[in-house]
Amino acid sequence: MTASKSELYQDLAMQLEALLVGERDRIANAANMAALIYHGLPDVNWAGFYFRQGGELVLGPFQGRPACVRIPLGRGVCGTAAARGATVLVPNVHAFAGYIARDPNSRSELVVPLLESGKVSGVLDLDSPLVGRFGEVDQMGCERLAALYADHHRRYPE
Ligand code: SME
Repeated sequence: MTASKSELYQDLAMQLEALLVGERDRIANAANMAALIYHGLPDVNWAGFYFRQGGELVLGPFQGRPACVRIPLGRGVCGTAAARGATVLVPNVHAFAGYIARDPNSRSELVVPLLESGKVSGVLDLDSPLVGRFGEVDQMGCERLAALYADHHRRYPE
């Protein structure tokens, strides 16, 4: 990699803004965002969304292997991030109690809640086949991307 990690996230944020401009459809925008992240970041084997429906998260657009469709709030890494309304960074998924294994290649995970007007509308989930793949720069970078998505849809509802 020639660009630093933070430059990479800066570049992804600019690309995401360009993809979102003029489009209100949440699913279409989530689909493009998942593709942008999956192909833009190295060592990521799953990138995508779960959207909140009442007391559970339901699978949204993603790139990677098929994933579990419904996750109760508070369960797994995704359900924990949604219930807390805060990012959960798991350096080693085998050490996370309640981890929901789907792709056997996944070793580390980063889940960022989508916050709209103080409420969790879903999560952005990234998996990696490498232990300890995600750090502080990834957390900050993905929180910024999630905020761009959430703010866009708060300002331009469907
Ligand atoms: N590992 C996640 C489940 C979703 S997928 O791996 C895409 C979790 O524990 O929430």
